[in-house]
Amino acid sequence: MSDMYKRFITLEGGEGAGKTTALKTIKEVLESREHPYVFSREPGGTALGQSLRQVLLHDLETPICGAAQAHLFLADRNQHLQEKIIPSLEKGKIFVSDRFADSSIAYQGFGKNIKEAITLNRALLEEYEPGLTLYLNVDPELGLKRANGRSEKDRMEQEDINFHERVRQGFLTLANEFPRYKIIDANQSMSSVQDDIRRVLGSYLDSIEK
Ligand code: TYD
Repeated sequence: MSDMYKRFITLEGGEGAGKTTALKTIKEVLESREHPYVFSREPGGTALGQSLRQVLLHDLETPICGAAQAHLFLADRNQHLQEKIIPSLEKGKIFVSDRFADSSIAYQGFGKNIKEAITLNRALLEEYEPGLTLYLNVDPELGLKRANGRSEKDRMEQEDINFHERVRQGFLTLANEFPRYKIIDANQSMSSVQDDIRRVLGSYLDSIEK
């Protein structure tokens, strides 16, 4: 891996895992350090991505089969890489992405059983592998309960519990394979999750800034 990708950090998790609070904690940790950083997300980190996000998650009257989902998420990802991720890393910044290729492997690959989502994203990861992936591991039943408390359900939140169990298995399979994974127990109280993030991210940043 080129050294520059050590500054590429991703956050992953199932529905209701607490990503929003986790992102705030990550921001706090980064603010307390000198290093310039950029935050972004998938889908939706670019202008093209915003349109894709709308159709992928919110235009529920537009049917999108699993394979089409896989390709649309990948289109969002490629644009994000070219327009934001690579240029920011080249400028020496830390880049934090709320979701990346692992989400496609877990949701479209394991969740929807689209093999292409796995092969295409695995190939992409060979070239653009993050240095650190924080994975918020939540029991899908608890996660969906938390997520259902929010307003309108998006396309993924409408899937059944079995889909979300498969998504979790997908992430855990990746976590088992890739040393870049740090699993955070997201069934805990939010303050314990925040403590874990501060500790794990802090020691990772120490190791790459040395
Ligand atoms: P997001 O805004 O990240 O919110 P949350 O994680 O709180 O649900 O929602 C993005 C949704 O898109 C989420 O359900 C996961 C899904 N997704 C995929 O299915 N495949 C992908 O490749 C990506 C990036 C996201």
